[in-house]
Amino acid sequence: MKNIDYENLYHLNKPYLEQYKQSFSDVLDSGWFILGKKVEAFEKEFAAYLKAPEFIGLASGLDALELPLIAMDFPEPSEVIVPSNTYIATINAIINTGHTPVFVEPDMLTYNIDPKKIEEKITSKTKAIMIVHLYGKPCEMDDIMALCKKHDLKLIEDCAQSHGAMYKEKMTGTFGQVGAFSFYPTKNLGALGDGGGMAVNDLSLYQSLKALRNYGSHIKYHNEFIGYNSRLDEIQAAFLSIKLKQLDSINGHKQKLAALYLKHLKSDFILPTVNDHSSHVFHIFAIRHERRDELKDYLLQHFIKTEIHYPIVPCEQISIKNHFAKHQMNLDPNDFVLAKEIHQTELSLPCSAIHSEEDIMHVIEVMNQFN
Ligand SMILES: Cc1ncc(COP(=O)(O)O)c(C=O)c1O
Repeated sequence: MKNIDYENLYHLNKPYLEQYKQSFSDVLDSGWFILGKKVEAFEKEFAAYLKAPEFIGLASGLDALELPLIAMDFPEPSEVIVPSNTYIATINAIINTGHTPVFVEPDMLTYNIDPKKIEEKITSKTKAIMIVHLYGKPCEMDDIMALCKKHDLKLIEDCAQSHGAMYKEKMTGTFGQVGAFSFYPTKNLGALGDGGGMAVNDLSLYQSLKALRNYGSHIKYHNEFIGYNSRLDEIQAAFLSIKLKQLDSINGHKQKLAALYLKHLKSDFILPTVNDHSSHVFHIFAIRHERRDELKDYLLQHFIKTEIHYPIVPCEQISIKNHFAKHQMNLDPNDFVLAKEIHQTELSLPCSAIHSEEDIMHVIEVMNQFN
């Protein structure tokens, strides 16, 4: 029986082994491991790829969400609008920086924040919207940009799952003041350890963001801000420069596999939607089924591994419930009904650079026999 992994980081990185070894030697020989030429080079390359004015490498995607909120210097606590269905990091970033997450439900066709539901959540304390291009599908940017303009709100894009995804010929990460990226190893552009960074589109934030990652300092031992230690390693930057050259082909491969699922999976499964005005890069190929857990077990019995993104809706995580209780804030269950439905029915199918078209046709064949 064919064994299909959900993902396999060894096989994912194997094609780059020789180049990685060479770049490891280069970094070792340079004797310079933090904030050097490799980070500078990657920052320039990724900014050019995105067509963003600047890019700043950081230690993680979480930091890439937090540092903009700090640099924007809102009074604490301000309200930041966030989708009710996202990875916990987006919400933690708002809370960690002293602000209040205000949840907005997703559009069930896109799984992204529903722009029609944002306006009713805006108050005099709202300062920003933090959107997430979830699973690799761009949010509806025209609607969101119009709302930001109308209500004078800042926009931070969580692009941890959307490297290379475009909305109307413009890269995700280049719409808001800042686009936040994660280079966690499983991402479409993944390092061999932790990493992240910010596309900086509002250059008035650039100097403070750059200092914040390095103890608030531009000049060694001169500290202008209470900063952080969030620096992308030289070695990770070197690996990322190698991988970046393949990002379009990695995304293209995933899109080809996704197209097979979209064409051949039977109609029992709720499939992701695609449209002409944006490109979905399928970081995650998310389907939904009301008997999701049964389907997951069935696939496992057929040696097909899947994942769930995510098993617990953020508003029901102990951490979030405790935070709201501690600050005597109300978590309204009506704010996460749809998010919960997604979390209870979502299943992520294998759709990675390690999979062949034959692998996916095999998954489809097995899935189509599920009753
Ligand atoms: C949507 C989203 N935001 C933020 C992050 C945080 O990235 P990191 O793990 O690099 O801190 C992730 C990582 O999985 C993510 O999926």
